[in-house]
Amino acid sequence: MTPAPYKIHKFDVIDSTNTRARRMALESAPEWTVVAARAQQQGRGRYRRKWESPSGKGLWFSIILRPEIPLEKVNLINLSAALSVRSFLEKKILREGKQNEGIISLKWPNDVLANQRKICGILLESSTSVNQLDFLIVGIGINVNHLISDFSPAIRQRATSLRLITGRYYDLDELLDEFLQQFYYELNGSLNRNFEGIIPEYEACMLYKGEMITIDLHHQIIKGKLAGLDSNGFLRVKTQTGERLITSGEIWQNGQE
Ligand code: BTN
Repeated sequence: MTPAPYKIHKFDVIDSTNTRARRMALESAPEWTVVAARAQQQGRGRYRRKWESPSGKGLWFSIILRPEIPLEKVNLINLSAALSVRSFLEKKILREGKQNEGIISLKWPNDVLANQRKICGILLESSTSVNQLDFLIVGIGINVNHLISDFSPAIRQRATSLRLITGRYYDLDELLDEFLQQFYYELNGSLNRNFEGIIPEYEACMLYKGEMITIDLHHQIIKGKLAGLDSNGFLRVKTQTGERLITSGEIWQNGQE
């Protein structure tokens, strides 16, 4: 059997797999070093939000990457990760014959939603020096074995899990291996092709394309029509004063904010 192209460091409980992976990257861990935990005590989401990571309920893991890409292309790794999670989950859902529930969409930049409920979040953190990328930490949280009562009341209406969709209980170690194999193959393919084709692929399953949205830039709110993505994966929004390129922020469909 060919050895796995990644090395997983498994923990029962950890503060955050992203924090640990960052420390290992600073200590020169090679790329495709993976930190995975059954539970996180301080799982982090975007914008310093807490990420619920109860024991044995989901895949909580972080991957160290050292791609040789210009800084402006880093967001494309975000999109690649979201696309890989999407196709992985879709395969799992279709395998159980749940065609109608197999509608997985992506909310820019990297939320993965099933039937409009969040099933996966991705936290990409980078370390740079002199305008050059040193390493990336791709932190991925996938809700797998949760029943609805496993989510806190605060997110119960907005979250879902693979088990809630397929009715199956999953072996998390097997699932992680399956996902990492797929992601390794897909991300390297994407890097070798210089990310060719990724923008239309992402746009095809992106929520709210062509619709009126509100974007919270965390220092300003803007409204406009989501026109699509530019070649670096940034959001093109048509506002009343012209087209704007959004590099980071949170989006909602108008009326949902
Ligand atoms: C988000 O949607 O805001 C991103 C959530 C990312 C959660 C994952 S779980 C594994 C990794 N470790 C963390 O502390 N966060 C990420």
